[in-house]
Amino acid sequence: MKKKRIVLITLGVLTLLVLGVIFIPNPLSQRIVSEAKANGYIKYQPLEAYDMARRICTQCHSDERIKMYCPRCGPPFVAVVPHMQTFIENYRKTKPNVEFTNITEPQAVAIVQVWNALVGNWEKDFREQDILKLIGHYDRLKALFLTPVDQRPIEAYLSGREELKIGHMTGLDQMQRKLGTPENNPQPVQPPAMEMNPSDGGANQHNHDDPNHKH
Ligand code: HEC
Repeated sequence: MKKKRIVLITLGVLTLLVLGVIFIPNPLSQRIVSEAKANGYIKYQPLEAYDMARRICTQCHSDERIKMYCPRCGPPFVAVVPHMQTFIENYRKTKPNVEFTNITEPQAVAIVQVWNALVGNWEKDFREQDILKLIGHYDRLKALFLTPVDQRPIEAYLSGREELKIGHMTGLDQMQRKLGTPENNPQPVQPPAMEMNPSDGGANQHNHDDPNHKH
């Protein structure tokens, strides 16, 4: 009888522990969830992907480098990110004392969508076979490349967030909307007209009847 009781109590305690790990926020469950995301079992939320892209991509250079990147500079981000993954692998070998966070492929898929949305997506400007070659052995990135933009959840969501955008696309919408309106055309600067009082021949250049007048 005593044995049965011990077994029941042990089971009860174990159940509580498992429930605790699942339902109470704690480092262990956070770790499990972030591993599951990095390995593609759980999807990244758009803003979470945004934070991750900023964190992972500024390990070796500032985001300025990414902000300046443009269609004239090189291939789209879907081909740049695998290139950066190679840098990380090389740095890990050549600089063993510095710690670099690696990018898993599901993370790369999320990160590409972030920069596409914030800086620009010029995948259509390149030949498909060239991009596929640059992507190399990353099958999930290839699948992303072949997915229409409106079916990429992170990219589609962040593309609508104008306030997060950086790079050559920034404010493009606003600028194009204002093109052609008179206040947007540069005008030669006119010196402010001097107020003349014809009765004193312009010698007395201020007007005491003006309510804003002060001495
Ligand atoms: C391990 C270090 C490292 C990490 C991490 C890294 N980069 Fe880079 N990145 C470099 C180096 C080195 C260069 C310069 C290489 C060159 O000029 O070819 C560079 C250059 C760039 C450029 C400019 C390329 C050009 O032709 O002007 C872009 C854009 C860029 N990185 C984007 C990213 C993005 C996006 C990420 C995150 C996925 C990232 N980088 C993460 C090392 C890194």
